[in-house]
Amino acid sequence: MDGMVAHIELTELEALADQVREALSSVIDPEIGRPITDLGMVRDVGLETRDVGGALAVVGIDLTVAGCPMKSRIVKDVTAAALTVSGVEDVQVELGAMSAEQREELRTKLRGGVGEPVIPFAQPDSLTKVYAIASGKGGVGKSTVTANLGVALARQGLKVGIVDADIYGFSIPGMLGVDRQPTRVDSMLLPPVAHGVKVVSIGMFVPKGQPVVWRGPMLHRALQQFLADVYWGDLDVLLLDLPPGTGDIAISVAQLLPGSEILVVTTPQTAAAEVAERAGSIASQTNQRVAGVLENMSWLEQPDGSRLELFGSGGGERVARNLSAATGYDVPLLGQVPLDVVLREAGDAGTPAVLVEGGAPSAGAAALDDVARSLAVRGRDLAGRSLGISPL
Ligand SMILES: Nc1ncnc2c1ncn2[C@@H]1O[C@H](COP(=O)(O)OP(=O)(O)OP(=O)(O)O)[C@@H](O)[C@H]1O
Ligand SMILES: [Mg+2]
Repeated sequence: MDGMVAHIELTELEALADQVREALSSVIDPEIGRPITDLGMVRDVGLETRDVGGALAVVGIDLTVAGCPMKSRIVKDVTAAALTVSGVEDVQVELGAMSAEQREELRTKLRGGVGEPVIPFAQPDSLTKVYAIASGKGGVGKSTVTANLGVALARQGLKVGIVDADIYGFSIPGMLGVDRQPTRVDSMLLPPVAHGVKVVSIGMFVPKGQPVVWRGPMLHRALQQFLADVYWGDLDVLLLDLPPGTGDIAISVAQLLPGSEILVVTTPQTAAAEVAERAGSIASQTNQRVAGVLENMSWLEQPDGSRLELFGSGGGERVARNLSAATGYDVPLLGQVPLDVVLREAGDAGTPAVLVEGGAPSAGAAALDDVARSLAVRGRDLAGRSLGISPL
């Protein structure tokens, strides 16, 4: 009879453990974006009865790497999930780390069963829209545009990644307030997530204050690594912040991501527009499509509501018109972004200006939000994709 009672208790505890396991499937790894139960992170779940009250759940969690920066978040989420099971009164999380074999298994799983890293966005069946943000002149606002468009698209519900491909002048981590490196799972990198956007930058690999001197082939390799070794998950949009001009990196982007489209940023100034046109026209050599033109620093709104056109006018319009003529298809002017102190300050603070909660967005943020909206409706589709120069 005693044995019978113990048996009933055991099955009850097992049932409870199953419920805890089930509840843990709601815990999403913050870096990978998938349930920890799918990732092999839940080592075991044990239930212990207490003299009074409910049971204690002892949950063994294997982190991808021992020093996982998301450790405390995972412990918190696991504890909260286990406590949702009725009958569980206390939770104890025992942290461990995956073995080399487990990590290899995980990497293969994340790569969709493929052992070797490939660039997911270069696969023929990829539905991710890839935009390279380019300009002729430097300092016209590419990085500001990239950071704000990325965050705006994420806020509109899309899954977004940003690659800071400006090896020499990386500024994306600062503008998005990212101050940590990706988590390394051996050769795989889990990108930090900022304001809902996955971000990698060469800046994350360079010690502070050190200049980077890399030649073309090294740049190409670094970019390839970003794209293939980083676990991006299933993205709707990938934005690449390019350095100014038509250099090595722009060519590498075209080769590594044949389906990528170019977004040209210019100021209204004639000189800037001329070089922007050149940056856009390399698209015809690389077989990339020009998605559109964005004019930045278009005007400064005066206290009386009038617009002071500090850099002249018409640059964006002109680049769009000339690129349309050169490419033979309509290259739209996607928007005009005014000079806006909020935009600059927000960028410096690492909280892009489109992140307004309540209240009206600044004029610059509103313009960028509109551009993001027009990009979002282009959506995920295979239609209109260029075939690219290198099938890979
Ligand atoms: N519309 C705007 N209003 C006010 N300030 C702006 C605007 N756009 C960009 N800025 C500011 O201008 C500076 C240059 O912008 P940003 O770094 O985005 O340009 P970039 O084209 O990426 O430059 P680089 O060619 O050096 O990479 C930054 O300090 C940014 O905050
Ligand atoms: Mg920049």
